[in-house]
Amino acid sequence: MNNKKTISGFSKLSKRGKIKWIVENFFKNPESVMRELASYWHSNEDQQKILDGFSENTISNFPMPYGVAPNFVINEKTYCVPMVIEESSVVAAASAAAKFWMSRGGFTTEILGMTKLGHVHFVWQGDIEILQSRFDDIKKKLLADTEDITKNMQARGGGIQDIILKKTSDEIPGSYQLLASFETCDSMGANFINSCLEQFAKSFKQFMLTDSAIPDKDRDVEIIMSILSNYTPECLVKAFVSCPVDELGNFPNGMSAQGFAKRFKDAIDIAIHDPYRAVTHNKGIFNGIDAVVLATGNDFRAIESCGHAYASRSGSYSSLSACSIKDGQFYFELIIPLSVGTVGGLTRLHPMAKRSLELLENPSAEELMQIIAATGLAQNFAAVRSLITTGIQQGHMKMHLQNILIQLKATEEESKRVISHFDDKVVSYSGVNQYLAEIRGLTVNS
Ligand code: MEV
Repeated sequence: MNNKKTISGFSKLSKRGKIKWIVENFFKNPESVMRELASYWHSNEDQQKILDGFSENTISNFPMPYGVAPNFVINEKTYCVPMVIEESSVVAAASAAAKFWMSRGGFTTEILGMTKLGHVHFVWQGDIEILQSRFDDIKKKLLADTEDITKNMQARGGGIQDIILKKTSDEIPGSYQLLASFETCDSMGANFINSCLEQFAKSFKQFMLTDSAIPDKDRDVEIIMSILSNYTPECLVKAFVSCPVDELGNFPNGMSAQGFAKRFKDAIDIAIHDPYRAVTHNKGIFNGIDAVVLATGNDFRAIESCGHAYASRSGSYSSLSACSIKDGQFYFELIIPLSVGTVGGLTRLHPMAKRSLELLENPSAEELMQIIAATGLAQNFAAVRSLITTGIQQGHMKMHLQNILIQLKATEEESKRVISHFDDKVVSYSGVNQYLAEIRGLTVNS
């Protein structure tokens, strides 16, 4: 083992101390790496402190592009949607789809549910019928003991909706859970739910120790864990677009509106039935979803794991979107669980997340769910439209070419010549490098 690469007490070092240790032990050019890491610090110390407070062992910031997709008409209101994403073409695709649907009625969205879930998992070997017969009283105690935690949420119109007793798995002897449902209003609600659940666990244990109906030999309940579930299939939103097939317009390579609609539906049906395609298809949806979730300071890991679980709810991984054509009408929808907040967590702490919410005119959690779903649907529409018409590479390669030109430090004049040269050619780094060298009168050996 290389001892220079291990350390104890790293977290106690100052930021400069941490960087010094890292650059000296992991980099060949410590001075320049140190300068580079420091160059990404926020120029305002207070702002940097806020960012550092979000995580641990921070040594710098990791910049990501912050873009916007304008012209999103959702339920007749127009939004300019903030998107944080490192992949080229995504924001352009969302913007193009938003504009396309803007003149065809825009996106329509609907909240199908707002329920969040959490559980206290426990193991108990007693007679479950006894617990079931005492459950009304158990529930009363759990609700009473969490009153202090729930009163603010209740004042905002939320709180604990229900608590049920459920067997967790026949595979684990004696495994049960207190499954609770919550309404958390405009917050994602993680702290609220977890606090309630931890109190449930304590109160439940107490109940079992003191209730006269519980046999003495069964008083001991083993609490395994108390935690919210990121699977929230009842915190659900639907977004759809629809227009007469004839109004879809004309598409590249002479494709008619009818031809487009039919091929589009085929592409969606393939994603419904083939999990290999469904994963890529849904990834395209999450290109849009994650970008807005990130820009608004929400938890994209939770959104992703929940969305993929939902996509598997039939037992086979499938498309999150669906398309139909009926009586000459094209209809394309996305139904997706999205547990997000517009208060609490990072949403108001991260300076850019706060700006994103301002840009969206400070939406409620329900409104944000609808904006995110519409962006996911737009992204999916744009990706599938490209795939079934020109192919995805045309757009990607344009962006790729831009990135290569930046990397090769091409001037504006050189860029114009390269772009025109590659208009009908396959773009590759070596090809562009070679052509640039020709323009510059140099020789390249690659
Ligand atoms: C690329 O990031 C996303 C796509 O692959 C999505 C799709 O295939 O539908 C273009």
